[in-house]
Amino acid sequence: MTDRFQFTLLATDGKARRGQISMPRGIVRTPAFMPVGTVGTVKAMYLTQVRELGADIILGNTYHLMLRPGAERVARLGGLHELIRWPEPILTDSGGFQVMSLSGLRKLDEQGVTFKSHVDGALHHMSPERSIEIQGLLDSDIQMQLDECVALPAERSEIERAMELSLRWAERCKVAFGDQPGKAMFGIVQGGDSPELRVRSAEALAGLDLKGYAVGGLAVGEPQEVMLDMLDITCPALPFDKPRYLMGVGTPDDILKSVARGIDMFDCVMPTRSGRHGLAFTRHGRVNLRNARHAEDPRPLDEASSCPAARDYSRAYLHHLVRSNEALGGMLLTWNNLAYYQDLMAGIRASIEEGRFQSFMEETQETWARGDI
Ligand code: GUN
Repeated sequence: MTDRFQFTLLATDGKARRGQISMPRGIVRTPAFMPVGTVGTVKAMYLTQVRELGADIILGNTYHLMLRPGAERVARLGGLHELIRWPEPILTDSGGFQVMSLSGLRKLDEQGVTFKSHVDGALHHMSPERSIEIQGLLDSDIQMQLDECVALPAERSEIERAMELSLRWAERCKVAFGDQPGKAMFGIVQGGDSPELRVRSAEALAGLDLKGYAVGGLAVGEPQEVMLDMLDITCPALPFDKPRYLMGVGTPDDILKSVARGIDMFDCVMPTRSGRHGLAFTRHGRVNLRNARHAEDPRPLDEASSCPAARDYSRAYLHHLVRSNEALGGMLLTWNNLAYYQDLMAGIRASIEEGRFQSFMEETQETWARGDI
């Protein structure tokens, strides 16, 4: 029987790829941007709105959901999709990022990671097998291997140790995941800023014949140029016919330059988090609504947008909401920003199909080169 998890390449333009991932819960059009729903909510958004903006898949976090409400509890409540009322695909990250971001609250050895809960201080052991078990209890459609993400800059010996450990954990996750038609477990390339380690990691993971591959350990303190060099090296070492996911990235410019190097999937807190902090992304550039110069500006963020948040509210009102710390300010700006990101991805997909990705990228980058507007 053919697997009901299938990646199909529909068009290419240079190294940029237009594809789709089909799975029982739906089709993900790639290049795709996955809004971040760490604790089972895309913050400040109804998931019906997220879907209407064009998101085919959202991301959840193993670490956070394990602590609260707990994986077994989510399973008893019918799984994550049922609980949060999102019937479309969900990708869950493994906890590997928290190995880095919570480095003061965890201990790591060959067996796995022990986290000290940021909620109540309790100790939680996460092995590669337990990470996959939790992602199964959540009923996630695309599960990620447990890995060790290292912040940059770091010693080469430390990067190499973490990369090798992540490879051994990938093998254990593959065994733990087993054969689940319709679902996937992705491996994660590590190797920091070393081209040699990146290639070794990518080739070894490719040898495991997984259903998809992520590039991790980037956008963790290195200049953009280094990240792009790592993608130039890594993408050709990954199987052409499998999806490639760049984890935790990024700005519109990062996304365009990564698509140009062969990346298919992205996630980032940027549109949601910066929205809650008063920053708007628009077709004309970035707008910091906290700035006093918006206080009496009657213009909307983008009069031509199909998103009501961008089209129907004045900058003056948004400025007032943000300055007053009103919840609606964060809600409207998150809505606007996710609309911008999903429109950007739709524009990327159309331009690849029509063989004009390069000019689409250049035109879009021009608006970002202007700085805040
Ligand atoms: N999110 C951003 N980067 C990473 C990474 O390297 N590993 C994991 N698991 N998640 C990430």
